Amino acid sequence: MAETTGRTAIWGILADPIHHVKTPQALNALMEEHGVDGVMIPFHVGSGGLDSLVAGLRSMHNLKGFVVTVPHKTAIVDLCDEVSEQAQAIGAVNTVRREDDGSLVGEMLDGAGFVAGLRQGGVEPRERSVYLAGAGGAANAIAFALAQAGVSRLTVANRTRSKSEDLRQRLAKHYPAVSVEIGSPDPSGHEIVVNATSLGLREGDPLPLDVNGLSSSQVVAEIIMQPETTALLAAAKERGCRTHPGRPMLTCQLELMAKFMRMIP
Ligand code: ATR
Repeated sequence: MAETTGRTAIWGILADPIHHVKTPQALNALMEEHGVDGVMIPFHVGSGGLDSLVAGLRSMHNLKGFVVTVPHKTAIVDLCDEVSEQAQAIGAVNTVRREDDGSLVGEMLDGAGFVAGLRQGGVEPRERSVYLAGAGGAANAIAFALAQAGVSRLTVANRTRSKSEDLRQRLAKHYPAVSVEIGSPDPSGHEIVVNATSLGLREGDPLPLDVNGLSSSQVVAEIIMQPETTALLAAAKERGCRTHPGRPMLTCQLELMAKFMRMIP
């Protein structure tokens, strides 16, 4: 980290627990690369302290923005002065910019990072039919970003059907041009297949979908970063599918966050 001075700008990350977060390391390295006189600091805050911390951050002139992660992504929405339409629809914010007057602008970039990562990998989701496994926090953000990116058809398949139905209804309301359906574990008939569940993270996890429904014309994308080749990606490769790993979602998202918080141009 470069030497801090009275002019050093500050960014934060709000989380509980916080010891595992790697965003400060990544964004501090990015600032160094860009020659920014700034620093990102982990702010360990529990749910009970969120309101008062955020009120304090508003009056801190050298605080330019903060990243928000578990468990605060939902609670922060109502503490922002302005929230993008998409973040409002998802009901979660993960990046906040502090304007010079102290007002806070929130955005949700989990899904945008996934779409940017796909595009970086040469996969354009516009006008494509997409199968999405999962309806949790990550899947919600990705579903809205895919709808925003102009997919033609989106099939949501989740173990708990009520959650996929809820996601389908919210998507249909905000993106009437996208055909949204509830799917079975079989991903056949879709051009892009996405695992947005947490399955694959732990050894011995069941597969998130029926891999017998995969064929070589499909792209299979993961959100799991570790291991890099999940059981799903291995099975997809065996069937001749083009595969897309989880890592680009994170790297692209970090850059989007840095730009949104005006850390880098
Ligand atoms: P995240 O914020 O990482 O998305 P989450 O909101 O807890 O985490 O969502 C986890 C997703 O993985 C959900 O879609 C969950 O399915 P349920 O909604 O039915 O819980 C899915 N998931 C986790 N464990 C699963 C399992 N053993 N089988 C099927 N789906 C599972």
